Amino acid sequence: MLQLLYDTPPEWAPAALADFDAFLRDHAANERKASAAAMRLAVHHHDIPILVDAMVEVAREELEHFEQVYEVIRERGGSLGQDCPDPYMTELYGAMRKENKTTFLLDRLIVFSLIEARGCERFGLVAKALEPGKLKDFYTELTRVEARHRALFVRIARQIYDVKEVDERIKTLTKREAEIVSALPLGPCLH
Ligand SMILES: [Fe+2]
Ligand SMILES: [Fe+2]
Repeated sequence: MLQLLYDTPPEWAPAALADFDAFLRDHAANERKASAAAMRLAVHHHDIPILVDAMVEVAREELEHFEQVYEVIRERGGSLGQDCPDPYMTELYGAMRKENKTTFLLDRLIVFSLIEARGCERFGLVAKALEPGKLKDFYTELTRVEARHRALFVRIARQIYDVKEVDERIKTLTKREAEIVSALPLGPCLH
């Protein structure tokens, strides 16, 4: 199982909750991008049925999360925001090997798992920081689903690639994710 090397500091959740409307807009954008990224992966690797089947399901679940976050935003009288640049995603994308389709897919699977792991960790922190109620329950449930996604991407990687090769790349990319996320400022956004 993939384990993050950097724990989000305790100051993060209060910073996220300080402007919860901004956090929700960023969260919605992340769910929408996760759904689109899963569908892109399915199309790029249409010849790997286990991957396509899993990605179609992930895309549907992420879109469902997007709808749920959008509903919360609407209930609060807000609207979706403009897309902002996401340095976390940009840097992670930069860490992937893109020279050939085979190594690129392995890196994508591991990076997707890392993104799910970070989402899972931070949704858990939000859930913990919120008062009991509908929102707290929502973030608690999201934490559970993103933990399942985190495991799914690694499981697929291990079905396609040599386990030793997967574990080596997990080590390298997990270290890189920790460097990237620890250098980012804390604020009302997921990353
Ligand atoms: Fe999600
Ligand atoms: Fe997810």
